[in-house]
Amino acid sequence: MGLTDLVEFWEREVKPRFREVDIESMVSLSDGSEVKYVNLDNAATTIPFRSVIEKIINSLSEYGSVHRGSGQHSKVTTARYEHVRETIRRFVGASSDDYIIFTSNTTTAVHLAASLWAQRSGFILVSDAEHSSNLTPWVQHEHIKNNGRVVREYNTNPDGTIDIEQIRQCFERANNDDEKIKTFTTNSLRIKLLAVTGASNLTGYKPQIYELAKLAHSYGAKIFVDACQLLQHEQIDMLPDDDPCHIDFIAFSGHKMYAPFGAGVLVGPKDFFDGRDLPAPFFGIDFLNLVYGSVYQLGGGNIPYIDSGGNVLRPKIERAHEPGTPNFAGAIAIEEAIILLEEIGMNRIKEYEHQLVALALDGMMKISNVKIYLPKNKICYPKDETGDYIIGSVIPFDIEGLPHKLVAEILAQEYGIGVRAGSFCTYELIRKLKGITKEQDQEITKEVLSGVTANIPGLVRASFSMINNLEDVNRFVSAISEISGKDIGYYRQRYELDERTGEWRVK
Ligand SMILES: Cc1ncc(COP(=O)(O)O)c(C=O)c1O
Repeated sequence: MGLTDLVEFWEREVKPRFREVDIESMVSLSDGSEVKYVNLDNAATTIPFRSVIEKIINSLSEYGSVHRGSGQHSKVTTARYEHVRETIRRFVGASSDDYIIFTSNTTTAVHLAASLWAQRSGFILVSDAEHSSNLTPWVQHEHIKNNGRVVREYNTNPDGTIDIEQIRQCFERANNDDEKIKTFTTNSLRIKLLAVTGASNLTGYKPQIYELAKLAHSYGAKIFVDACQLLQHEQIDMLPDDDPCHIDFIAFSGHKMYAPFGAGVLVGPKDFFDGRDLPAPFFGIDFLNLVYGSVYQLGGGNIPYIDSGGNVLRPKIERAHEPGTPNFAGAIAIEEAIILLEEIGMNRIKEYEHQLVALALDGMMKISNVKIYLPKNKICYPKDETGDYIIGSVIPFDIEGLPHKLVAEILAQEYGIGVRAGSFCTYELIRKLKGITKEQDQEITKEVLSGVTANIPGLVRASFSMINNLEDVNRFVSAISEISGKDIGYYRQRYELDERTGEWRVK
Protein backbone atom coordinates (compact mmCIF):
# COMPACT_ATOMS: atom_id res chain seq x y z
CA MET A 1 0.00 0.00 0.00
CA GLY A 2 1.30 3.46 -0.88
CA LEU A 3 0.56 6.51 1.27
CA THR A 4 -2.59 7.36 -0.71
CA ASP A 5 -3.83 3.78 -0.32
CA LEU A 6 -3.33 4.04 3.43
CA VAL A 7 -5.43 7.20 3.61
CA GLU A 8 -8.11 5.69 1.38
CA PHE A 9 -8.24 2.44 3.32
CA TRP A 10 -8.78 4.29 6.57
CA GLU A 11 -11.41 6.67 5.11
CA ARG A 12 -13.35 3.95 3.28
CA GLU A 13 -12.92 0.78 5.29
CA VAL A 14 -12.21 1.83 8.85
CA LYS A 15 -13.77 5.19 9.66
CA PRO A 16 -17.37 4.34 8.70
CA ARG A 17 -17.26 1.18 10.79
CA PHE A 18 -16.68 3.01 14.07
CA ARG A 19 -18.69 5.67 15.86
CA GLU A 20 -17.22 9.12 15.49
CA VAL A 21 -17.25 9.66 19.26
CA ASP A 22 -15.05 6.61 19.63
CA ILE A 23 -12.39 7.26 17.02
CA GLU A 24 -12.43 11.03 16.85
CA SER A 25 -12.86 11.96 20.48
CA MET A 26 -11.24 15.07 21.92
CA VAL A 27 -9.17 15.11 25.11
CA SER A 28 -7.92 17.94 27.33
CA LEU A 29 -4.22 18.67 27.64
CA SER A 30 -2.45 20.02 30.71
CA ASP A 31 -2.44 23.54 29.25
CA GLY A 32 -6.23 23.48 28.99
CA SER A 33 -6.39 23.07 25.20
CA GLU A 34 -8.16 20.20 23.44
CA VAL A 35 -6.84 17.85 20.76
CA LYS A 36 -8.07 14.78 18.95
CA TYR A 37 -7.12 11.72 20.98
CA VAL A 38 -4.57 9.35 19.46
CA ASN A 39 -5.17 5.89 20.84
CA LEU A 40 -1.95 3.88 20.75
CA ASP A 41 -2.99 1.48 23.48
CA ASN A 42 -4.87 -1.00 21.33
CA ALA A 43 -2.99 -4.01 22.69
CA ALA A 44 -4.59 -3.35 26.08
CA THR A 45 -8.10 -3.20 24.70
CA THR A 46 -9.95 -2.06 21.59
CA ILE A 47 -12.99 0.12 21.02
CA PRO A 48 -16.17 -1.47 19.65
CA PHE A 49 -17.22 -1.46 16.04
CA ARG A 50 -20.35 0.64 15.56
CA SER A 51 -22.40 -2.39 14.48
CA VAL A 52 -21.27 -4.38 17.52
CA ILE A 53 -22.99 -1.81 19.73
CA GLU A 54 -26.04 -1.71 17.46
CA LYS A 55 -26.33 -5.49 17.40
CA ILE A 56 -26.31 -5.68 21.19
CA ILE A 57 -28.90 -2.92 21.55
CA ASN A 58 -31.18 -4.44 18.92
CA SER A 59 -31.03 -7.93 20.35
CA LEU A 60 -31.93 -6.73 23.83
CA SER A 61 -35.57 -6.20 22.81
CA GLU A 62 -35.85 -10.00 22.53
CA TYR A 63 -33.42 -10.82 25.31
CA GLY A 64 -34.19 -13.81 27.51
CA SER A 65 -32.41 -16.44 29.54
CA VAL A 66 -29.87 -18.52 27.60
CA HIS A 67 -30.57 -22.30 27.84
CA ARG A 68 -32.99 -21.97 30.73
CA GLY A 69 -36.34 -20.76 29.53
CA SER A 70 -39.29 -22.04 27.54
CA GLY A 71 -40.48 -18.64 26.37
CA GLN A 72 -39.91 -17.23 22.90
CA HIS A 73 -37.34 -14.69 24.03
CA SER A 74 -35.33 -17.34 25.75
CA LYS A 75 -35.37 -19.52 22.65
CA VAL A 76 -34.33 -16.69 20.33
CA THR A 77 -31.54 -15.63 22.68
CA THR A 78 -30.32 -19.21 23.05
CA ALA A 79 -30.29 -19.77 19.29
CA ARG A 80 -28.35 -16.55 18.71
CA TYR A 81 -25.86 -17.44 21.42
CA GLU A 82 -25.31 -20.94 20.01
CA HIS A 83 -24.92 -19.54 16.50
CA VAL A 84 -21.87 -17.56 17.58
CA ARG A 85 -20.00 -20.81 18.18
CA GLU A 86 -20.33 -21.71 14.50
CA THR A 87 -19.14 -18.28 13.37
CA ILE A 88 -16.07 -18.61 15.60
CA ARG A 89 -15.45 -22.18 14.41
CA ARG A 90 -15.34 -20.98 10.82
CA PHE A 91 -13.25 -17.89 11.58
CA VAL A 92 -10.45 -19.77 13.33
CA GLY A 93 -10.65 -22.92 11.19
CA ALA A 94 -11.67 -25.14 14.11
CA SER A 95 -13.08 -28.56 13.26
CA SER A 96 -16.46 -30.04 14.09
CA ASP A 97 -14.61 -32.13 16.68
CA ASP A 98 -13.70 -29.00 18.63
CA TYR A 99 -15.66 -27.29 21.35
CA ILE A 100 -16.02 -23.53 21.21
CA ILE A 101 -16.30 -22.59 24.88
CA PHE A 102 -17.18 -19.11 26.10
CA THR A 103 -15.18 -17.70 28.99
CA SER A 104 -14.81 -14.17 30.38
CA ASN A 105 -11.47 -13.48 28.70
CA THR A 106 -8.19 -15.15 27.76
CA THR A 107 -7.09 -15.43 31.39
CA THR A 108 -10.13 -17.50 32.38
CA ALA A 109 -9.79 -19.54 29.18
CA VAL A 110 -6.24 -20.48 30.14
CA HIS A 111 -7.37 -21.29 33.70
CA LEU A 112 -10.07 -23.57 32.33
CA ALA A 113 -7.63 -25.40 30.06
CA ALA A 114 -4.97 -25.55 32.78
CA SER A 115 -7.35 -27.05 35.33
CA LEU A 116 -8.13 -29.91 32.92
CA TRP A 117 -4.57 -30.37 31.70
CA ALA A 118 -3.47 -30.73 35.33
CA GLN A 119 -5.48 -33.98 35.43
CA ARG A 120 -3.16 -35.45 32.80
CA SER A 121 0.22 -36.93 33.47
CA GLY A 122 3.25 -35.10 32.05
CA PHE A 123 4.64 -31.58 32.02
CA ILE A 124 3.54 -28.28 30.55
CA LEU A 125 6.23 -26.38 28.62
CA VAL A 126 5.87 -22.61 28.48
CA SER A 127 8.23 -19.93 27.24
CA ASP A 128 9.61 -17.31 29.60
CA ALA A 129 8.32 -14.56 27.31
CA GLU A 130 4.64 -15.25 27.97
CA HIS A 131 2.10 -12.83 29.34
CA SER A 132 1.45 -13.88 32.94
CA SER A 133 -2.05 -14.98 31.89
CA ASN A 134 -0.43 -17.70 29.79
CA LEU A 135 1.99 -18.68 32.53
CA THR A 136 0.54 -18.44 36.03
CA PRO A 137 -2.64 -20.49 35.37
CA TRP A 138 -0.49 -23.42 34.18
CA VAL A 139 1.80 -23.09 37.20
CA GLN A 140 -1.08 -22.73 39.63
CA HIS A 141 -3.15 -25.70 38.45
CA GLU A 142 -0.18 -28.03 37.96
CA HIS A 143 0.97 -27.11 41.45
CA ILE A 144 -2.39 -27.79 43.07
CA LYS A 145 -3.28 -31.01 41.25
CA ASN A 146 0.16 -32.53 40.81
CA ASN A 147 1.48 -32.12 44.34
CA GLY A 148 3.66 -29.13 43.79
CA ARG A 149 4.79 -30.06 40.29
CA VAL A 150 5.99 -27.00 38.41
CA VAL A 151 5.81 -26.30 34.71
CA ARG A 152 8.96 -26.52 32.63
CA GLU A 153 9.99 -23.13 31.39
CA TYR A 154 11.76 -22.65 28.09
CA ASN A 155 14.31 -19.80 27.98
CA THR A 156 13.83 -17.65 24.93
CA ASN A 157 16.72 -15.82 23.28
CA PRO A 158 17.87 -12.53 24.88
CA ASP A 159 15.50 -10.63 22.55
CA GLY A 160 12.53 -12.84 23.47
CA THR A 161 12.50 -14.85 20.24
CA ILE A 162 12.18 -18.62 20.13
CA ASP A 163 14.83 -20.99 18.85
CA ILE A 164 12.91 -24.06 17.67
CA GLU A 165 15.95 -26.29 18.04
CA GLN A 166 16.10 -25.35 21.74
CA ILE A 167 12.47 -26.37 22.14
CA ARG A 168 13.18 -29.66 20.41
CA GLN A 169 15.92 -30.24 22.96
CA CYS A 170 13.44 -29.57 25.80
CA PHE A 171 11.20 -32.32 24.41
CA GLU A 172 14.17 -34.62 23.95
CA ARG A 173 15.43 -34.07 27.53
CA ALA A 174 11.97 -34.68 28.95
CA ASN A 175 11.70 -37.97 27.06
CA ASN A 176 15.12 -39.07 28.28
CA ASP A 177 14.19 -38.21 31.88
CA ASP A 178 10.99 -40.16 31.44
CA GLU A 179 12.84 -43.24 30.17
CA LYS A 180 15.05 -43.17 33.27
CA ILE A 181 12.20 -43.17 35.80
CA LYS A 182 9.85 -45.48 33.92
CA THR A 183 10.35 -48.47 36.17
CA PHE A 184 9.60 -46.53 39.37
CA THR A 185 6.46 -44.59 38.57
CA THR A 186 3.57 -44.34 36.17
CA ASN A 187 3.69 -40.56 36.30
CA SER A 188 5.20 -39.36 33.04
CA LEU A 189 7.97 -36.77 32.84
CA ARG A 190 7.26 -36.17 29.17
CA ILE A 191 5.94 -32.86 27.94
CA LYS A 192 2.20 -33.08 27.42
CA LEU A 193 1.52 -29.55 26.22
CA LEU A 194 3.46 -26.66 24.74
CA ALA A 195 1.81 -23.34 25.63
CA VAL A 196 2.94 -20.39 23.56
CA THR A 197 1.80 -16.94 22.58
CA GLY A 198 0.58 -16.33 19.05
CA ALA A 199 2.01 -12.80 19.21
CA SER A 200 3.90 -11.17 22.06
CA ASN A 201 2.02 -8.34 23.73
CA LEU A 202 5.33 -6.57 24.34
CA THR A 203 7.31 -6.99 21.12
CA GLY A 204 4.69 -8.20 18.65
CA TYR A 205 7.00 -11.13 17.92
CA LYS A 206 5.09 -13.98 16.31
CA PRO A 207 6.60 -17.39 16.93
CA GLN A 208 6.28 -19.96 14.16
CA ILE A 209 3.26 -21.60 15.72
CA TYR A 210 2.76 -24.09 12.90
CA GLU A 211 6.35 -25.32 13.10
CA LEU A 212 6.02 -25.53 16.87
CA ALA A 213 2.78 -27.49 16.49
CA LYS A 214 4.50 -29.97 14.18
CA LEU A 215 7.35 -30.35 16.65
CA ALA A 216 5.04 -30.84 19.64
CA HIS A 217 2.98 -33.44 17.75
CA SER A 218 6.09 -35.36 16.75
CA TYR A 219 6.69 -35.87 20.49
CA GLY A 220 3.09 -36.85 21.18
CA ALA A 221 2.31 -33.48 22.80
CA LYS A 222 -0.33 -30.85 21.99
CA ILE A 223 0.01 -27.12 21.45
CA PHE A 224 -1.94 -24.29 23.08
CA VAL A 225 -1.74 -20.87 21.41
CA ASP A 226 -2.64 -17.70 23.29
CA ALA A 227 -4.06 -15.91 20.27
CA CYS A 228 -5.38 -12.81 21.99
CA GLN A 229 -2.78 -10.48 20.46
CA LEU A 230 -2.96 -12.18 17.09
CA LEU A 231 -6.36 -12.80 15.65
CA GLN A 232 -7.49 -9.17 15.44
CA HIS A 233 -4.41 -8.44 13.30
CA GLU A 234 -4.12 -11.46 11.06
CA GLN A 235 -5.89 -14.68 10.22
CA ILE A 236 -5.27 -17.67 12.40
CA ASP A 237 -6.19 -21.05 10.98
CA MET A 238 -6.15 -24.04 13.31
CA LEU A 239 -5.81 -26.34 10.24
CA PRO A 240 -7.46 -29.77 9.88
CA ASP A 241 -7.07 -32.20 12.80
CA ASP A 242 -4.94 -34.58 10.75
CA ASP A 243 -2.51 -31.88 9.59
CA PRO A 244 0.81 -32.21 11.46
CA CYS A 245 0.79 -28.42 11.95
CA HIS A 246 -2.75 -28.43 13.42
CA ILE A 247 -3.21 -26.04 16.36
CA ASP A 248 -4.93 -28.03 19.13
CA PHE A 249 -6.09 -25.18 21.40
CA ILE A 250 -6.48 -21.45 21.10
CA ALA A 251 -7.73 -18.80 23.50
CA PHE A 252 -8.65 -15.18 22.87
CA SER A 253 -10.58 -12.19 24.26
CA GLY A 254 -13.42 -10.27 22.63
CA HIS A 255 -12.22 -6.98 24.08
CA LYS A 256 -9.00 -7.14 22.05
CA MET A 257 -10.91 -7.59 18.79
CA TYR A 258 -13.35 -4.67 18.84
CA ALA A 259 -15.95 -6.46 20.99
CA PRO A 260 -15.29 -5.18 24.54
CA PHE A 261 -18.22 -6.76 26.36
CA GLY A 262 -16.63 -9.28 28.68
CA ALA A 263 -16.45 -12.50 26.68
CA GLY A 264 -13.49 -14.68 25.76
CA VAL A 265 -13.17 -18.01 23.97
CA LEU A 266 -11.38 -21.30 24.41
CA VAL A 267 -11.27 -23.72 21.49
CA GLY A 268 -10.03 -27.29 21.74
CA PRO A 269 -10.87 -30.95 21.08
CA LYS A 270 -14.16 -32.32 22.40
CA ASP A 271 -12.48 -35.55 23.44
CA PHE A 272 -10.13 -33.66 25.71
CA PHE A 273 -12.87 -31.64 27.39
CA ASP A 274 -15.05 -34.71 27.78
CA GLY A 275 -12.14 -36.65 29.25
CA ARG A 276 -12.17 -39.37 26.61
CA ASP A 277 -8.37 -39.37 26.54
CA LEU A 278 -8.28 -40.27 30.25
CA PRO A 279 -8.08 -43.86 31.58
CA ALA A 280 -11.03 -46.08 30.68
CA PRO A 281 -14.01 -46.39 33.09
CA PHE A 282 -13.66 -49.05 35.79
CA PHE A 283 -16.15 -51.89 36.26
CA GLY A 284 -18.47 -50.59 33.60
CA ILE A 285 -19.16 -47.39 35.56
CA ASP A 286 -18.98 -44.30 33.42
CA PHE A 287 -16.55 -42.36 35.51
CA LEU A 288 -16.39 -39.76 32.79
CA ASN A 289 -19.63 -38.42 34.14
CA LEU A 290 -18.52 -38.45 37.72
CA VAL A 291 -14.84 -38.13 38.37
CA TYR A 292 -12.72 -37.69 35.29
CA GLY A 293 -13.56 -35.09 32.74
CA SER A 294 -14.76 -32.92 35.57
CA VAL A 295 -15.11 -29.33 34.60
CA TYR A 296 -13.33 -26.18 35.63
CA GLN A 297 -16.15 -24.75 37.70
CA LEU A 298 -19.34 -26.54 38.64
CA GLY A 299 -22.51 -24.65 39.36
CA GLY A 300 -25.86 -23.79 37.89
CA GLY A 301 -26.48 -24.35 34.22
CA ASN A 302 -23.79 -26.94 33.59
CA ILE A 303 -25.05 -29.91 35.56
CA PRO A 304 -28.10 -31.90 34.37
CA TYR A 305 -28.54 -33.79 37.65
CA ILE A 306 -27.17 -34.32 41.15
CA ASP A 307 -28.35 -37.70 42.45
CA SER A 308 -29.56 -38.40 45.99
CA GLY A 309 -26.10 -39.66 46.84
CA GLY A 310 -24.67 -36.26 46.00
CA ASN A 311 -23.03 -37.44 42.79
CA VAL A 312 -22.68 -34.63 40.32
CA LEU A 313 -23.39 -35.63 36.75
CA ARG A 314 -22.28 -33.52 33.88
CA PRO A 315 -23.35 -33.40 30.26
CA LYS A 316 -20.67 -34.08 27.68
CA ILE A 317 -21.22 -30.86 25.80
CA GLU A 318 -19.42 -27.54 25.75
CA ARG A 319 -21.96 -26.02 28.09
CA ALA A 320 -20.55 -28.21 30.84
CA HIS A 321 -17.60 -25.80 30.83
CA GLU A 322 -19.70 -22.66 30.97
CA PRO A 323 -20.93 -22.33 34.56
CA GLY A 324 -23.76 -19.96 35.36
CA THR A 325 -25.72 -17.69 33.07
CA PRO A 326 -23.59 -16.99 29.99
CA ASN A 327 -22.58 -13.58 28.70
CA PHE A 328 -24.92 -13.31 25.73
CA ALA A 329 -23.98 -9.72 24.85
CA GLY A 330 -20.28 -10.57 24.92
CA ALA A 331 -20.79 -13.57 22.65
CA ILE A 332 -22.83 -11.80 19.99
CA ALA A 333 -20.36 -8.90 20.12
CA ILE A 334 -17.60 -11.32 19.14
CA GLU A 335 -19.72 -12.67 16.30
CA GLU A 336 -20.40 -9.22 14.90
CA ALA A 337 -16.73 -8.25 15.22
CA ILE A 338 -15.77 -11.37 13.25
CA ILE A 339 -18.26 -10.49 10.53
CA LEU A 340 -16.69 -7.04 10.22
CA LEU A 341 -13.11 -8.27 10.29
CA GLU A 342 -13.97 -10.69 7.49
CA GLU A 343 -15.83 -8.03 5.54
CA ILE A 344 -12.78 -5.74 5.60
CA GLY A 345 -10.48 -8.71 4.99
CA MET A 346 -7.83 -9.97 7.39
CA ASN A 347 -5.08 -9.70 4.80
CA ARG A 348 -5.88 -6.09 4.08
CA ILE A 349 -6.03 -5.29 7.80
CA LYS A 350 -2.66 -6.93 8.26
CA GLU A 351 -1.12 -5.06 5.35
CA TYR A 352 -2.55 -1.73 6.49
CA GLU A 353 -1.41 -2.14 10.09
CA HIS A 354 2.03 -3.35 9.11
CA GLN A 355 2.56 -0.38 6.82
CA LEU A 356 1.54 2.04 9.56
CA VAL A 357 3.83 0.42 12.12
CA ALA A 358 6.67 0.28 9.59
CA LEU A 359 6.29 4.04 9.01
CA ALA A 360 6.24 4.72 12.75
CA LEU A 361 9.30 2.53 13.21
CA ASP A 362 11.13 4.28 10.40
CA GLY A 363 10.49 7.62 12.06
CA MET A 364 11.44 6.38 15.54
CA MET A 365 14.67 4.79 14.36
CA LYS A 366 15.86 8.17 13.09
CA ILE A 367 15.70 9.67 16.59
CA SER A 368 19.11 9.04 18.11
CA ASN A 369 18.25 8.70 21.81
CA VAL A 370 15.22 6.47 21.28
CA LYS A 371 15.85 2.80 21.95
CA ILE A 372 13.51 0.30 20.34
CA TYR A 373 13.27 -3.16 21.87
CA LEU A 374 12.39 -5.23 18.84
CA PRO A 375 14.42 -8.24 17.77
CA LYS A 376 16.44 -6.49 15.05
CA ASN A 377 17.07 -9.35 12.67
CA LYS A 378 13.39 -10.22 12.72
CA ILE A 379 12.09 -6.93 11.37
CA CYS A 380 11.44 -8.31 7.96
CA TYR A 381 7.93 -7.39 6.88
CA PRO A 382 7.15 -6.90 4.03
CA LYS A 383 10.35 -8.35 2.59
CA ASP A 384 9.92 -11.84 3.93
CA GLU A 385 6.80 -13.22 5.45
CA THR A 386 7.94 -16.78 5.88
CA GLY A 387 9.50 -17.55 9.26
CA ASP A 388 8.86 -15.58 12.40
CA TYR A 389 8.75 -11.85 12.15
CA ILE A 390 7.71 -9.02 14.35
CA ILE A 391 6.30 -6.02 12.63
CA GLY A 392 2.68 -6.17 13.45
CA SER A 393 1.15 -3.91 15.95
CA VAL A 394 3.50 -3.01 18.77
CA ILE A 395 6.54 -0.76 19.30
CA PRO A 396 8.23 -1.12 22.71
CA PHE A 397 10.72 1.67 23.39
CA ASP A 398 12.22 4.12 25.81
CA ILE A 399 14.06 7.43 25.61
CA GLU A 400 17.52 7.73 27.07
CA GLY A 401 17.51 9.77 30.30
CA LEU A 402 13.72 9.89 30.66
CA PRO A 403 11.81 7.37 32.84
CA HIS A 404 9.28 5.35 30.83
CA LYS A 405 6.32 6.41 32.99
CA LEU A 406 7.26 10.06 32.54
CA VAL A 407 7.35 9.64 28.75
CA ALA A 408 3.87 8.08 28.79
CA GLU A 409 2.56 10.91 30.98
CA ILE A 410 4.07 13.60 28.72
CA LEU A 411 2.53 11.94 25.65
CA ALA A 412 -0.89 12.07 27.33
CA GLN A 413 -0.66 15.51 28.95
CA GLU A 414 1.07 17.45 26.20
CA TYR A 415 0.13 15.61 23.02
CA GLY A 416 -3.14 13.75 23.69
CA ILE A 417 -1.54 10.42 22.83
CA GLY A 418 -2.49 7.36 24.91
CA VAL A 419 0.20 4.68 25.26
CA ARG A 420 1.04 2.37 28.12
CA ALA A 421 4.13 2.28 30.31
CA GLY A 422 5.04 -0.61 32.57
CA SER A 423 6.10 -4.22 32.39
CA PHE A 424 3.01 -5.51 30.57
CA CYS A 425 2.70 -8.70 32.67
CA THR A 426 5.82 -10.06 30.95
CA TYR A 427 8.29 -9.72 33.81
CA GLU A 428 10.95 -12.16 32.65
CA LEU A 429 10.97 -10.73 29.14
CA ILE A 430 11.26 -7.17 30.46
CA ARG A 431 14.16 -8.21 32.71
CA LYS A 432 15.88 -9.72 29.67
CA LEU A 433 15.30 -6.75 27.42
CA LYS A 434 16.45 -4.29 30.09
CA GLY A 435 19.38 -6.44 31.19
CA ILE A 436 18.25 -6.64 34.83
CA THR A 437 20.66 -8.76 36.87
CA LYS A 438 19.74 -11.30 39.55
CA GLU A 439 21.00 -8.89 42.22
CA GLN A 440 18.90 -6.03 40.87
CA ASP A 441 15.92 -8.36 40.73
CA GLN A 442 16.42 -9.21 44.41
CA GLU A 443 16.54 -5.52 45.31
CA ILE A 444 13.36 -4.85 43.33
CA THR A 445 11.65 -7.79 45.03
CA LYS A 446 12.56 -6.39 48.47
CA GLU A 447 11.21 -3.00 47.51
CA VAL A 448 7.97 -4.40 46.10
CA LEU A 449 7.44 -6.36 49.31
CA SER A 450 7.79 -3.09 51.21
CA GLY A 451 5.24 -1.44 48.94
CA VAL A 452 7.62 0.42 46.61
CA THR A 453 6.91 -0.38 42.96
CA ALA A 454 8.78 2.54 41.40
CA ASN A 455 11.77 0.52 40.23
CA ILE A 456 9.99 -2.38 38.57
CA PRO A 457 11.60 -2.39 35.12
CA GLY A 458 9.44 -1.20 32.28
CA LEU A 459 9.15 0.30 28.84
CA VAL A 460 6.74 2.41 26.85
CA ARG A 461 4.53 0.50 24.44
CA ALA A 462 2.81 2.08 21.47
CA SER A 463 0.31 -0.43 20.14
CA PHE A 464 -1.49 0.09 16.86
CA SER A 465 -4.66 -1.26 15.32
CA MET A 466 -6.68 -0.49 12.22
CA ILE A 467 -8.31 2.47 14.02
CA ASN A 468 -5.02 4.34 13.67
CA ASN A 469 -4.15 6.35 10.60
CA LEU A 470 -1.25 8.24 9.02
CA GLU A 471 -2.06 11.35 11.01
CA ASP A 472 -1.70 9.35 14.25
CA VAL A 473 1.68 8.03 13.14
CA ASN A 474 2.93 11.50 12.25
CA ARG A 475 1.72 13.02 15.51
CA PHE A 476 3.29 10.21 17.49
CA VAL A 477 6.69 10.35 15.77
CA SER A 478 6.87 14.12 15.98
CA ALA A 479 5.89 14.03 19.69
CA ILE A 480 8.64 11.51 20.43
CA SER A 481 11.10 13.62 18.48
CA GLU A 482 10.21 16.73 20.54
CA ILE A 483 10.23 14.91 23.88
CA SER A 484 13.57 13.30 23.20
CA GLY A 485 15.06 16.74 22.49
CA LYS A 486 14.51 17.82 26.12
CA ASP A 487 16.11 16.52 29.27
CA ILE A 488 14.86 15.36 32.64
CA GLY A 489 15.71 18.78 34.19
CA TYR A 490 13.23 20.44 31.85
CA TYR A 491 10.47 17.97 32.69
CA ARG A 492 11.14 18.01 36.45
CA GLN A 493 9.96 21.60 36.48
CA ARG A 494 6.59 20.49 35.10
CA TYR A 495 6.01 17.03 36.53
CA GLU A 496 6.46 15.52 39.98
CA LEU A 497 7.35 11.96 40.79
CA ASP A 498 5.60 9.68 43.26
CA GLU A 499 8.65 7.94 44.72
CA ARG A 500 6.68 4.85 45.73
CA THR A 501 4.91 4.11 42.47
CA GLY A 502 7.17 5.76 39.90
CA GLU A 503 4.12 7.59 38.48
CA TRP A 504 4.55 11.18 37.29
CA ARG A 505 1.91 13.91 37.64
CA VAL A 506 1.64 17.39 36.22
CA LYS A 507 2.58 19.90 38.94
C1 LIG B 1 -0.59 -12.03 25.16
C2 LIG B 1 -1.69 -11.87 26.17
N1 LIG B 1 -2.21 -12.96 26.74
C3 LIG B 1 -3.21 -12.89 27.64
C4 LIG B 1 -3.73 -11.68 28.01
C5 LIG B 1 -4.86 -11.63 28.99
O1 LIG B 1 -6.01 -11.22 28.34
P1 LIG B 1 -7.31 -10.88 29.19
O2 LIG B 1 -6.95 -9.73 30.07
O3 LIG B 1 -8.33 -10.52 28.18
O4 LIG B 1 -7.65 -12.09 29.96
C6 LIG B 1 -3.23 -10.51 27.46
C7 LIG B 1 -3.75 -9.19 27.87
O5 LIG B 1 -3.20 -8.16 27.64
C8 LIG B 1 -2.18 -10.60 26.50
O6 LIG B 1 -1.67 -9.52 25.93
